[in-house]
Amino acid sequence: MTLIERQAVCVVGLGYIGLPTAAVLASCGYKVHGVETDVRAREIINSGRAHIIEHDLDMLVRAGIESGRLAAFAEPVTADVFVLCVPTPLGPDRGADLTHVRAATESICPVLKKGDLVILESTSPPGTTKMIAELVFANTDLEPGDLYFVHAPERVLPGRILHEVVQNDRIIGGLDEESTQKGRAFFETFVRGELILCDSRMAEMAKLVENASRDVQIAFANELSMLCEDLDIDVRELIEIANRHPRVNILEPGPGVGGHCIAVDPWFIVDMAKGKARLLETARAVNDSKPRWVADKVKNATAALIDPVIACFGATYKADIDDLRESPALKIIQDLQASGVGRVLVVDPNLDELPGCQLVAPEVAYLEADVFVFLVPHAPFFLITSEQRSKKIVIDVCGVTSSRTRPGTTSGWSERADGPIA
Ligand SMILES: NC(=O)c1ccc[n+]([C@@H]2O[C@H](COP(=O)([O-])OP(=O)(O)OC[C@H]3O[C@@H](n4cnc5c(N)ncnc54)[C@H](O)[C@@H]3O)[C@@H](O)[C@H]2O)c1
Repeated sequence: MTLIERQAVCVVGLGYIGLPTAAVLASCGYKVHGVETDVRAREIINSGRAHIIEHDLDMLVRAGIESGRLAAFAEPVTADVFVLCVPTPLGPDRGADLTHVRAATESICPVLKKGDLVILESTSPPGTTKMIAELVFANTDLEPGDLYFVHAPERVLPGRILHEVVQNDRIIGGLDEESTQKGRAFFETFVRGELILCDSRMAEMAKLVENASRDVQIAFANELSMLCEDLDIDVRELIEIANRHPRVNILEPGPGVGGHCIAVDPWFIVDMAKGKARLLETARAVNDSKPRWVADKVKNATAALIDPVIACFGATYKADIDDLRESPALKIIQDLQASGVGRVLVVDPNLDELPGCQLVAPEVAYLEADVFVFLVPHAPFFLITSEQRSKKIVIDVCGVTSSRTRPGTTSGWSERADGPIA
């Protein structure tokens, strides 16, 4: 074990990014002090389980807790490395809401000491790492040069987080060269991918640009799907044919764009660009318009039915996860419920409950529904037979009934298995 592996790490925010990161670090021999404001999450983690669904995470958390290398607390303690993994949602003006980043930074101020490394993993607009440093210096006796600050954005794909935390190439952007090198020394102890060194502003902007790029590409596919409907052209066949061009790679359409990354981060650029990010703004508008378009399609298809029962398959923002944040599928479900178009059932194998919705087993949907609306390509939905779908009106916006789509090749909104970043 190298010297750095014996260091203590404090991971602040044990959610979809922080908990897998903390568990991986514990498995690599670090003593990890997790900090989490959510009492229930802390209790579940300390009982040796994950409070979120992520492949193999339960096992790794249990191993961390049992080995004594991982535990969750309400407050930070002295450590050598601090990793901030708190949310960065959209603010009311569609800029980044850095409230959690500020609160997390202030919470570590009392325990910071000279020589510590502070890593911001939360997706943040350019200048946030510098803001953190200034906040620390304003709230402690420490001075510039005493600490190291790095932005290391996450690029993991939910469902593959444990694999990708280790295997992905990682951007390490230091506030200064010493910070970058300190960050490199830390990440190279557990990351197998290449470490890409740059400054913190470049790292911050790179993450936003990656997600904005995805958003624009998905908007293209979603726009195609809507105009192909009017032209009576099968969009999936069209995309498959067009993608035979050696330099064309159109993504798959879906119900819209969800999650708290691709649906959120492009706004941070739009906010900063002051009218100059026209393409990004349009892509957001196209993707945000898709749920309403899907809901209207369902309403039109059921207009002639009396008291139809509509089974919506999938509510999460992408396939095979339990995350509902910014979910376009959920927006469609809520739109259908609010419109009173019929009784709306929801089938989602990844959810135990869905407040405000009638969550049912697939068998209930087979028995009671007149309409099947496929919104999220969860793996089990590919097993629904044509016999089970027979005599139903089928609206499939995620490709589960298409012979052109295979399980795991889409992510619920639009993503090919051969090129995901999220
Ligand atoms: N989830 C992803 O796939 C993903 C991918 C790339 C980047 N990111 C980015 O990573 C960051 C974290 O995302 P996430 O998905 O893990 O969010 P999350 O909501 O799942 O987890 C954040 C956790 O931080 C906790 N928290 C909030 N404020 C805190 C504080 N002051 N102290 C301690 N705990 C606090 C919350 O209770 C929550 O459990 C965001 O900026 C996000 O954009 C997420």
